[in-house]
Amino acid sequence: MGAQRIDGRQVAERVLEHVRAEVRALTARDVVPHLAVVLVGDDPASATYVRSKANKARAVGMRSTVVHLSAGVTTDELVRRVRALSDDADIDGLIVQLPLPPHVDEAAVIAAIDPAKDVDGFTPENAGRLFRGDLGGLLPCTPRGILALLQAYDLPLAGRHAVVVGRSNIVGKPAAQLFLAHHATVTVVHSRSGPVGRYTRQADILVAAVGKRHFITPDDIKPGAAVIDVGIHRTETGQLTGDVAPDVEQVAGWLTPVPGGVGPMTVAMLLDNTVRAARLRRGWHDVARTGV
Ligand code: GUN
Repeated sequence: MGAQRIDGRQVAERVLEHVRAEVRALTARDVVPHLAVVLVGDDPASATYVRSKANKARAVGMRSTVVHLSAGVTTDELVRRVRALSDDADIDGLIVQLPLPPHVDEAAVIAAIDPAKDVDGFTPENAGRLFRGDLGGLLPCTPRGILALLQAYDLPLAGRHAVVVGRSNIVGKPAAQLFLAHHATVTVVHSRSGPVGRYTRQADILVAAVGKRHFITPDDIKPGAAVIDVGIHRTETGQLTGDVAPDVEQVAGWLTPVPGGVGPMTVAMLLDNTVRAARLRRGWHDVARTGV
């Protein structure tokens, strides 16, 4: 026995094939999609993610620009820089890597991104559209990646109980909205919920996005459930591990590994969003989207 492994690298590769083809088609029309990533400060994990996003963008034929600002940047200065990038006609997609230093007003920075270039789907306009069940805006990358994984493994959401552990604006809340739009019954569990097992044991689909290493244990799982691990933690020995304890594999029906599960999907969906943004802001029709 043991859970079936959900191979995020393989599914991400399929998404990237589609993105490469789109980039080729756009390039033939003299549009090389351009992704700009703003990184503030020197957090090593954020720097690694940003490098990976920029490198993957180039690997599929896009242009990418990383703007690295010091941890001491003020909200006003950061808003000015983000607005300038947003106004730059040469840029199709723009993200600000989170988290920002605590003195920065994150909401003000995100609001400075043009919704048409908001390839993270974090602006009030895109988040609001998702809240309304309108999937035509730009959608957050990790929730889109999770949905694409479930679809790739024929794990339907309609009529199922999805339990999301974590209520972040990056993953938990938008994942809950996206699942709702796909007709799941959704429970969101968080740090004030008390012991989570009484909720998670009811989950057909469990998303762990808590940011606590091995927080979800076999006791928290309904046998046969699909378990999606969004956590990434580096152990003392330098290995990567998730929010889900490894022995959950004995109880779950499906499980995403860390690394090689959700992570590659997030990057693939960011690039897919960038291609969409490049098309949509020129008024060119949308192509069939992978995963949503
Ligand atoms: N930090 C962790 N995940 C993300 C993400 O998807 N986008 C941004 N901008 N920051 C993040």
